[in-house]
Amino acid sequence: MARIAIVGSYGVGLTVELDRVPEAGETVVGRTFRRDHGGKGSNQAVGCARLGAEVDFLTAIGDDTFGHDAVALWHEEGVRAAAVVTSEATMVAPIFVESSGENRIVVVAGALAQLSRAHVDAFADKIAAADVCLVQLEIPVDTALYALEMAHRMGVRTILNPAPAPAEPIAPEVDYVTPNETEAAAVREVRGTVVLTLGDRGAQLGDERVPAFPATPVDTTGAGDAFNAAFAVALAEGLSDLDAVRWGCAAGAHMVEHPGVVPGLPTRDELEARLAAVPA
Ligand code: RIB
Repeated sequence: MARIAIVGSYGVGLTVELDRVPEAGETVVGRTFRRDHGGKGSNQAVGCARLGAEVDFLTAIGDDTFGHDAVALWHEEGVRAAAVVTSEATMVAPIFVESSGENRIVVVAGALAQLSRAHVDAFADKIAAADVCLVQLEIPVDTALYALEMAHRMGVRTILNPAPAPAEPIAPEVDYVTPNETEAAAVREVRGTVVLTLGDRGAQLGDERVPAFPATPVDTTGAGDAFNAAFAVALAEGLSDLDAVRWGCAAGAHMVEHPGVVPGLPTRDELEARLAAVPA
């Protein structure tokens, strides 16, 4: 069975659906409000587990309702979580989804700001046992890069999903980096393969363009998470880079057709049905 180690975030998505986001100084009326499990690390951990991988997940939460609910989610989804419980609140992310499906996200790190190198050291045996180590940037960048370097040293394949884009450009030594078009500008001199995700235009792997799978989007939040989870599982199962990118695109298409993130992460059967519907 494919084994994935993830170092990343858990947070609660506070989603408002509205016609358009307000201008500065303006108040607008929203249509709906929802509270969802989120955080790119947790989303990707659940995504990998739904596709049948064994998942170890290092993150940080607060000793609060949001943190307790997270533990219940991971238990339900079969994610083995090593959650550091801190004195800070669990991360929250207000998300604004416009009628077009376009989303805007604000992340308040809370507990995640305390996730440190020492926590990664304590998680080293999980990284060593993995086929793939997958990391995002909703945790301190130093901690993220430290985990990737450790995995690299141990001969474990590494994927950095550089989301959200770091404030300062980084030059990570990773096997794969998976930015979207905004994040790509913040990732320089990558010593590894760049997989550029292009939303409804698919993804670019070197000279190869993988077209998007057909989808009618209702909420694009989490498309990157679905992509990265499927991409990581495919690589861990020994598929080619190109096939892994196809898995990512198929999972992304599934996600955008569902409101919310966790409900939109495909199961193995759902992913296989999408892949089968569009011959390679
Ligand atoms: O990638 C989408 C995720 O980003 C949301 O779940 C939100 O919580 C933010 O972390």
